Amino acid sequence: MKDKVNFDSVSEARRGFIKQSGMLIAAAAMMQPFGLLAATAQAKPEKKAEDGKEISPAEDLMREHGILSRLLLIYEEVIARLNSGREFPVEVLVDAAGLIRRFVEDYHEKLEENYLFPRFKKAGKLVDLVKVLLQQHQAGRRLTDRIRGLATASAIKNPAKKRRLARYMSLFIRMYRPHKAREDTALFPAFRSIVSPKEYASLGEAFEDQEEKLFGKGGFEHVVSEVERLEKAMGMYELSQFTASI
Ligand SMILES: [Fe+2]
Ligand SMILES: [Fe+2]
Repeated sequence: MKDKVNFDSVSEARRGFIKQSGMLIAAAAMMQPFGLLAATAQAKPEKKAEDGKEISPAEDLMREHGILSRLLLIYEEVIARLNSGREFPVEVLVDAAGLIRRFVEDYHEKLEENYLFPRFKKAGKLVDLVKVLLQQHQAGRRLTDRIRGLATASAIKNPAKKRRLARYMSLFIRMYRPHKAREDTALFPAFRSIVSPKEYASLGEAFEDQEEKLFGKGGFEHVVSEVERLEKAMGMYELSQFTASI
């Protein structure tokens, strides 16, 4: 694409990573999640993270929400630039929406849909909340389709398309902030109470295995570095720039 200025763009390695992720996601989608989990739980009852500490399902999902939050901040900055007419590298938007599709929608939300939601339904707990969360996942995917369709240099120059793009991104942000906040404070804390400690531990392990399968070893760190690259391209990486001067 044209707008690669200031955006030391997509490396070959990364393209390989994305391609590989896509294939693995397709392969994973064919697996039975509970069958996979049962096999994993039997084979390795306890898995440690790289630093030797266990990662619980809630911590895993919450740090993935951290990725989503950072991507929403990028969306917010893109909207501000679209509205004010300030330029930005369109590749940032393409890649941010691509990460939302691959990491958030095709991975993180699939974990929730395959491992959490059915257990809440079976336990008869937070059933109404789970229903809304699932509807929001589906609406989010429709919005991402539209955002990706409009994430082009020519669409951004077209006033009507630019307005539509900004609106879809605003709707996405508006929906996902309360969505993830509710999951962090209601769904994930309740999850411990509906599964046994052993199952809870083995789920953390299954999530990590899934992440490694889809995104390679150190998959989470790799995605964090992708987000940082996008933040740098938008001039919003330095945390200190957000410190209130008071
Ligand atoms: Fe969710
Ligand atoms: Fe989530």
